[in-house]
Amino acid sequence: MPVSLDPVVEFREDHRKVRDGLLDLAAAAEKGDLPKARTTLGSIDALVGPHFRYEEEALYPAMKEFLGEYVDRLIEEHDGAIKTAKVAAGLLAKPSLTKDEGKAAANAARALLVHVSNCDGLNILTERLSKRQLDDLAASFQKARDANVPLIRWADTIRKRKVS
Ligand SMILES: [Fe+2]
Repeated sequence: MPVSLDPVVEFREDHRKVRDGLLDLAAAAEKGDLPKARTTLGSIDALVGPHFRYEEEALYPAMKEFLGEYVDRLIEEHDGAIKTAKVAAGLLAKPSLTKDEGKAAANAARALLVHVSNCDGLNILTERLSKRQLDDLAASFQKARDANVPLIRWADTIRKRKVS
C-alpha cells in the first residue's frame, strides 16, 4: 500500500511554498516584471486550488469540533482571498502595468500573505485529532491534489459559494 501523506506536514509545506510565491509575486509586481509576476501567480493558483479545496471539504469541517461556528469565518476569509487573487489575476492579465497597478498587485499579494500565516496556525489544532481523523484528512488532501483544479477555476466552478 502506498504511504499516505502526512496532513500536518504537507499543510505547512504548502504554506511555505505559497509564502515564498507571494513574496516573489509582490517583488515582481512592484518591479514591473510582468512575465515573472504572471508565472508566479500561475504556480500559486495551481498550488492553492487543491489546498483551499481540502480546507473547505475536509479540514474545516473537522475543525468544527474545536472551533464551532468560527469555522464560518474561515470560509468567509477564503471568499476574501479568492477575491484578492482575482484582482491580482485581472491586473496581471493586462498587456502592461502602470506603477500604481504594479503596486496594487503587490498589495494584493501581501494581503494574501496574512491568510497564509493565519491558516498555518490551524496545524496546532489538527494535531489534536485522532489517528482515524488524520487518516481521513490525508485521504482528502490527496484527493484534492489528484483532482488538481487551480484556485480560480475551482472557485468559479466546483465551489458552491460564489465570489464575484
Ligand atoms: Fe491554508
